Amino acid sequence: MTVQPTVLQELPADLVRERLPRHVAVIMDGNGRWAKRRGMPRIMGHRRGVDVLKELLRCCRDWGIQALTAYAFSTENWGRPSEEVEFLMTLFERVLRQELREMMQENVQIRFVGNLHALPTSLRDEIERSVTATKNNQGIQFTIATNYGGRQEILKACRAIATKVEQGLIQPEQIDEAMFERHLYTSGVCDPDLLIRTSGEMRLSNFLLWQMAYAEIYVTDTFWPDFNRQEFHQALCDYQQRERRFGKL
Ligand code: FPP
Repeated sequence: MTVQPTVLQELPADLVRERLPRHVAVIMDGNGRWAKRRGMPRIMGHRRGVDVLKELLRCCRDWGIQALTAYAFSTENWGRPSEEVEFLMTLFERVLRQELREMMQENVQIRFVGNLHALPTSLRDEIERSVTATKNNQGIQFTIATNYGGRQEILKACRAIATKVEQGLIQPEQIDEAMFERHLYTSGVCDPDLLIRTSGEMRLSNFLLWQMAYAEIYVTDTFWPDFNRQEFHQALCDYQQRERRFGKL
C-alpha cells in the first residue's frame, strides 16, 4: 500500500461546516466486481479497497468529520470461499500492523465492533495493540466493523440486560434507550448521520441496525475501489440538501 504524505485541505466552498455529518458510516461494496471487470482475482479489489478507505479516513479528518465507521467483514461473510476469508483476515492484520504508526501521528482513535473472539488469534492481538495504543487519541474516531452483525449485537445487548434483571441489579422499567445503547458495541460513539453504500445495492445488510435509525442513506453505483474524494464530496453535498426531521414536522 502506498503511504501518501498528509496534506490538510480546506473544506470545499460548497460545503457548510455546520451541516456536515458528525459520523459517516460506509458499506464498502463492489470490490469483487471491480476486480472481475479487470480480469483480476477478487482479492485485488479488497487490496485496492484499503487504499480507498485510508483516503476516506484522511478526507474525513481534513474536513472535520468526527467519526468514520467501515463495514469490513460481516457475520455472513464467513460463507465466502475459505481462500478469500483467509486473505481478508491476513489483510486486516497486515494493514493494522503497517498503519499503526501513521494512525498515531494522525491522532486517530481506532475502535473495533463485532464478535472479535471468533477472529484468528494473531489478528486479535493486532487489534488489541492498535486499540490500546490509540485509545487516548483525540482525533477522528475510526471504527472497523469486523465479524459484525447488527442483529447479533442487539441480541447480545438484550442478553446482558436480561442477566442484570435476573440478578436484581436493574428493574425492567429502568431499561430505556440510553441504557440499551450502553450495552451495544458502539457505546460512546454518536449514531451515524450518513450511510454511504457503494456499488448500487439498496440494503443495510445487517449493519448498525439500531444506530442507523435516523441515518441519511446515500447509494452510489461506483464500486468501492473507485470511490474517491470527489464522490465523497458529492455524497456530502447531497446530505446537506436533506431535511432531517427525526419524525417531527
Ligand atoms: C465487499 O465487497 C467488501 C468486503 C467484504 C471487504 C471490505 C474490506 C476492505 C475494503 C478492507 C478494509 C481493511 C481494513 C483494515 C479495515 P464484495 O467483495 O462483496 O464485492 P462484490 O459485491 O463485488 O462481490
